[in-house]
Amino acid sequence: MGDGHDRLLGGEVSARARVDMGIGEISRDIFVSEEIYRREQAQVFARAWLYVGHESQIRKPGDFFLSRMGEESVILTRDQNHKIRVLLNTCRHRGMKVCRYDEGNTKTFYCPYHAWTYGLDGSLIGVQDYRGLYQPPFDKEDWGLVQVAKIATFRGTVWATWDSDAPDFETYLGGARRALDAGLAPWDGGDGEVELLDGVQKWIVPSNWKVVAENGSGDMLHNVSHRSVDLAGIGPKEGSGRRDPFRQLALSALPEGHGFIYDKVPSDADRNDYSLSPITAEYFKEAWRRRVELLGEAAGVGPVVGAIFPNMCFHAQQPRTIMVAHPRSATSSELWRVYFVDKDAPTEVKQFLRRYYLSYSGPGGMTEQDDMENWGYATQGCHGEISQRHPFHYKAGMGLEGTDPMVPGAVTENPIGSEQNPRALYNRWAQFMDAATWNDIPTGRAAA
Ligand code: FES
Ligand SMILES: [Fe+2]
Repeated sequence: MGDGHDRLLGGEVSARARVDMGIGEISRDIFVSEEIYRREQAQVFARAWLYVGHESQIRKPGDFFLSRMGEESVILTRDQNHKIRVLLNTCRHRGMKVCRYDEGNTKTFYCPYHAWTYGLDGSLIGVQDYRGLYQPPFDKEDWGLVQVAKIATFRGTVWATWDSDAPDFETYLGGARRALDAGLAPWDGGDGEVELLDGVQKWIVPSNWKVVAENGSGDMLHNVSHRSVDLAGIGPKEGSGRRDPFRQLALSALPEGHGFIYDKVPSDADRNDYSLSPITAEYFKEAWRRRVELLGEAAGVGPVVGAIFPNMCFHAQQPRTIMVAHPRSATSSELWRVYFVDKDAPTEVKQFLRRYYLSYSGPGGMTEQDDMENWGYATQGCHGEISQRHPFHYKAGMGLEGTDPMVPGAVTENPIGSEQNPRALYNRWAQFMDAATWNDIPTGRAAA
């Protein structure tokens, strides 16, 4: 790759020139350039399907949860007709936030600046001195809160896109459908509900959002940085480690930019997970029995971790959590993490899992602290003039991708340290960045 300055083509940022997947090299400036960051807001975050929240956060009409899509503040709510809405949280009059609370229940969204008032469906229903001030009156219908173009729900999660040309959510997922479904299902793999534990952990890291996302998509090589946690032994079993043991791991990368680490546990395996808590171990064993009954051979084949392009990451097994890396600037991201459990699990099980999950992930979680330190320094390492002349190395396992009858996408089992998943993510990123419209972004099989 050449130096950073020959890649500004005609005033436009060329992403493909910075992400060379033919040789597995990526220019460092994509992690620190404010120009690229600004372009990402339009090319990626204003187009892609983004995770917004969970239906369990808005059970009743008027319930709302304040979320984010890219840099934008959005209100996830349920209107009087029980319809889910995602509204841009900025008053059409002069931009004030019409909702300043993290969550709650309301009848309207009332702007405290000059008192414009909006209904749960986003429509403008109240304007100060409407009759006296506006001659002729303006049409309130034209001045409701800005709404997303499309909303989809999937196993309780809510997703939205600003772009009416975006394909439907299932097409967007492609081969990731199976992983997301398995990742969000209750332990027994049935139709029961999962629920979020109360509260959202929110914190800021000095890192580009992509550094976080690529880690979430599956980076087995970085396990070495969690050595201290493994020694400390925070896992839900006797002895050391941070999790119950894996069986047979496999990487799965999708042309749509999503990536996962799967585990393949034989359906006749004797599961002794969560042995530190007998009631949790018992609940898990019973769920595993039902799961094998329901899914047969596929019962133990599912994601451990993964990421849905662009910025939603999840842990599907130990712990069970969703994390979104919201962009704030080129070198700052706001991480939002929630944890989920089977709704019908006994309280003691939920409590045991809550303590385990919080010791693992989040700003106080020992595993996440290792990651945060790496992400921060890695982002810092992209700034220098000299540093920027030298690209990053994403070559592990190149050309070794195969297929697996049980795992969708490009699959590498050996070597498990392959960087195929980050490569798929950045390939997709470059497609989004350089495409004029959704029509120029390959979908389905053509995305490869
Ligand atoms: S900014 Fe909302 S009413 Fe003026
Ligand atoms: Fe990690």
